[in-house]
Amino acid sequence: MHTTPGFPTLRIVDHPLVQHKLTLLRDRTTPTKIFKELVDEIATLMAYEATGDLALEPVPVETPLESTMGRRVMGKKLTLVPILRAGLGMVEGICRLVPSARVGHIGLYRDHETLRPVDYYFKVPADATERDFFVLDPMLATGGSAVAAVTSLKRAGAQRIRFLCLVAAPEGVQHLAKAHPDVVVLCAALDRELNGSGYILPGLGDAGDRLFGTR
Ligand code: PRP
Ligand code: URA
Repeated sequence: MHTTPGFPTLRIVDHPLVQHKLTLLRDRTTPTKIFKELVDEIATLMAYEATGDLALEPVPVETPLESTMGRRVMGKKLTLVPILRAGLGMVEGICRLVPSARVGHIGLYRDHETLRPVDYYFKVPADATERDFFVLDPMLATGGSAVAAVTSLKRAGAQRIRFLCLVAAPEGVQHLAKAHPDVVVLCAALDRELNGSGYILPGLGDAGDRLFGTR
């Protein structure tokens, strides 16, 4: 994982497997079935990096031979919050690694004209104050959806939030950092820019449509 000058909240996961799979994702000829599998696999690999600093506590354990001390992740269960729709594609890959994770949902879509997020659903576990949250969305473009999602989560009491995405635009990272400087963003790539329609370049196209085969 590395940092980039000018983007203090950003961490780029440069693991070779993540970069290899991301290239396959970008390929316009990759079909929906493979696209879905790749998003799932990259999410698992990113979650490994994103959980690297979870706090541990000592716990006694009986091996077949004797008693010893082990360690376990402390605190309330990690909570994943996919932004609908495309964030859903990242949930299972992370749950495979953290099967006890809770899953909330935030429903947002980008108005095609204004590019502003429109929210339509919000459900996260109670006692948000005590939990670690991973907000999931493959694309951080203008950052409007990410800012709205984090703002809603904080309103519900969340205090420790990370944002996991696959491809980020500089504009989106800066927008989120300005609104929520405490939220670390993990991505597989920081791309060049947004086009006039708010799509990331070079990007991978419309993540929701490619995941669910709706175009
Ligand atoms: C996409 C993507 C993000 C958002 C990013 O969702 O999955 O949620 O756009 O753009 P932003 O950073 O400019 O807000 P979309 O609005 O296409 O909704 P969908 O997943 O339901 O297709
Ligand atoms: N949403 C997407 O799915 N792709 C982009 O490039 C930008 C926003």
